[in-house]
Amino acid sequence: MASYNIFLLPGDGIGPEVTAEVEKVAKVVSDAGLAKFEFEKGLVGGSAYDAHGLAISEADMARAQAADAVLLAAVGGPKWANVPYDVRPEAGLLRLRKDLGLFANLRPALCYPALAEASSLKRELVEGLDIMIVRELTGGVYFGEPKEITNLPNGQKRAVDTQVYETYEIERIAAVAFEMARKRRNKVTSSEKHNVMKSGLLWKEVVTDVHKKSYADVQLEHMLADALGMQLVRWPKQFDVIVTDNLFGDMLSDVASMLTGSLGMLPSASLGEADANGKRKAMYEPVHGSAPDIAGKGIANPIAMIGSFGMALRYSFGLIEAADLIEKAISDVLAQGLRTADIKGQAASSISTSAMGDAIANALKKAI
Ligand code: IPM
Ligand code: MG
Repeated sequence: MASYNIFLLPGDGIGPEVTAEVEKVAKVVSDAGLAKFEFEKGLVGGSAYDAHGLAISEADMARAQAADAVLLAAVGGPKWANVPYDVRPEAGLLRLRKDLGLFANLRPALCYPALAEASSLKRELVEGLDIMIVRELTGGVYFGEPKEITNLPNGQKRAVDTQVYETYEIERIAAVAFEMARKRRNKVTSSEKHNVMKSGLLWKEVVTDVHKKSYADVQLEHMLADALGMQLVRWPKQFDVIVTDNLFGDMLSDVASMLTGSLGMLPSASLGEADANGKRKAMYEPVHGSAPDIAGKGIANPIAMIGSFGMALRYSFGLIEAADLIEKAISDVLAQGLRTADIKGQAASSISTSAMGDAIANALKKAI
């Protein structure tokens, strides 16, 4: 039986609560004899800062580099609002993405039928929704230099962030999006702001070239990022795969998450370049944050975190059937009417984080 080393980074806030539920689901998969998982735990974000004054230690970076996959929950919280910028909780997350070369962030937005009521949009707009946002994750304004605040002679300050993309960065993320579309409904919507940004102009040009050269069989459309934000809430089912830069992808994936009922539902995968054996560095994390307001109460929704483990099975370990079964277990549990507080909607009551984890693990046990 194959054995995989998973580096767990529970992080801050609700992180430790939701990662505990992943271990239950992983145990069902290994009890079924499909694979063995060795979990190693580290610190990232505020918890790492409290332990050693850094957003992630060098030792934990080395463990992340060596792991078959990293599973991270969430970082940040008001407790660390005033720590120095370089060691703020988010710096740990960004360093992992950058140093592991995780340029391709896959953020599926799937509306489970049982949750159509929980969305802020009308049922007919979101029921059956299945879109994939492919967000560039190691470039753009997140990492561009200069990035600074300087003092001006007149006593004012000047802040600069730099939005920068090179051809190869756009080529490789476009290729991921087109490959993805071929396995889905064969349509890619590429989004930028070429009407005001040079980086948008290059983005559009390069995506068009990649399409023409290697993916002419896939339907390609270009949409300005503001218009795409509007279309996402007007008629989201028009989209299949959306490919966009780091910042627009950040915003648009939060918008897309509300279509599915709750931010607590969305998993994500961040993948690096394939090596000679086809193996990619990978990190899996829910799209939601550390939700400090509900941390420690045992009411957080573990579905995005469990779904992220499912994505690890799919994209890192080749356990496609098990990944499908995890998605089905989530869908079944929702269809039975079980809800955490964030997706309660009209339901009479809600269940705890650990009860939701147990229910999904049990549903999986029956199916696997
Ligand atoms: C996300 C988050 C992060 C981002 C934050 C925590 C730095 O919002 O993963 O979407 O902006 O990328
Ligand atoms: Mg975000």
